[in-house]
Amino acid sequence: MDFKLNSEQQMILEMVRQFVKKEVKPVAARMDREGTFPRGLVEKMSELGLMGAFMPPEHGGSGMDMISYVLVMEEISSAWAALSVIMTVNNSLVCEPIQRFGNEAQKRKYLSPLSKGDLLGCYALTEPGAGSDAGSLKTTAVKKGGLYLINGTKVFITSGKEADLAIVYALTAPEKGKKGISAFLVEKKFPGFKVGKLEDKLGLRSSDTAELLFENCEVPEENLLGVENDGFKIALATLDGGRIGIASQALGIARGCLDEAVVYSKTRQQFQQPLSSFQAIQWILADIKVGIDAARLMIFKAARNREKGLPMTLEAAMAKWFASEMANRAAYQALQVFGGYGYTKETNIERFYRDARITTLYEGTSEIQKVVIARELLR
Ligand code: CAA
Repeated sequence: MDFKLNSEQQMILEMVRQFVKKEVKPVAARMDREGTFPRGLVEKMSELGLMGAFMPPEHGGSGMDMISYVLVMEEISSAWAALSVIMTVNNSLVCEPIQRFGNEAQKRKYLSPLSKGDLLGCYALTEPGAGSDAGSLKTTAVKKGGLYLINGTKVFITSGKEADLAIVYALTAPEKGKKGISAFLVEKKFPGFKVGKLEDKLGLRSSDTAELLFENCEVPEENLLGVENDGFKIALATLDGGRIGIASQALGIARGCLDEAVVYSKTRQQFQQPLSSFQAIQWILADIKVGIDAARLMIFKAARNREKGLPMTLEAAMAKWFASEMANRAAYQALQVFGGYGYTKETNIERFYRDARITTLYEGTSEIQKVVIARELLR
């Protein structure tokens, strides 16, 4: 197997490195403290073609391969995970299902502007009573004339406040349970759609996480995504791709931690020597490095399967579980290298430590990834 990046992948990586260095790193800590949504940076990511990174050019995308996409996710996340989550949700959880399950009219109307960054998307599956058990959702969609009327509440929706379009999962045949769920393309401006409470979170402070309220929300019937009652399969298939994005995000956070810890360990002196001369510190750095490289290999494997249209449920779940647990360990260990300084907002480590925590929770907890892995193994 050839691990060398091709010239296009190297070019994309270099472009994103420049963007991260010039535009993201200088503002990340301040914007995190202020908790402001990085609208300007999202616009810059759109200009660079990152909001529809692997969508086909005929639908407004950049046509990148999946390896390029995960490299971009890693790079942005190594500086600021709140920015990369906006990108991955738009790419993997919104553009991808429209590309896979949408009809031509839906692709023209929604996929092209989403890919170009003219619209921002969010993915509305989770409900107050339906987290890990996503199939137990209660939101309903009742057909009336040429409309579906959606009623219910979604919670923890990444980009929920800022997004223009939500993919909403709702019961069209409640008696069938999870086999009666459908997916809908719901514009924020449709009557009956309201943004509710915003979450005050530990990390990802600049990415909004919102409650979405639907009260007789009027959705034209042509906005049904895919086939009626196939929605739960669409949701789970979408999450397979999404988990590759979150795994790459976790990898990037771990890389950010290692980069900072290496520099600090070489400059900080204790006992008349740099920290890096102590084996206790070297072992920490070695642990993080091995975890990072192992996670990257798993992510590349899942991305390659996705690229080739091969099964990837198992690979995506393994990559997501491993990378997110590894990133939390890496953040803990890097903070240990920084000592008390790492516990303050003077360093980026404190932010990485908080941001890493979500990666074992969203797009399926670590426990759910293990359920998926075991199911694939045993069936
Ligand atoms: N792709 C396509 N279809 C799939 C699938 C996949 N990966 N996995 C399962 N299916 C199919 C099954 O074959 C089944 O179809 P049949 O009935 O025809 O056989 C159907 O989907 C239902 O599957 P299960 O019965 O296995 O479903 P389940 O209720 O047992 O749930 C689960 C499985 C893995 C636990 C799932 O509920 C799950 O992944 N839960 C976690 C939810 C989650 O990740 N939420 C994330 C929220 S979004 C988010 O976090 C975004 C953000 O903020 C960034």
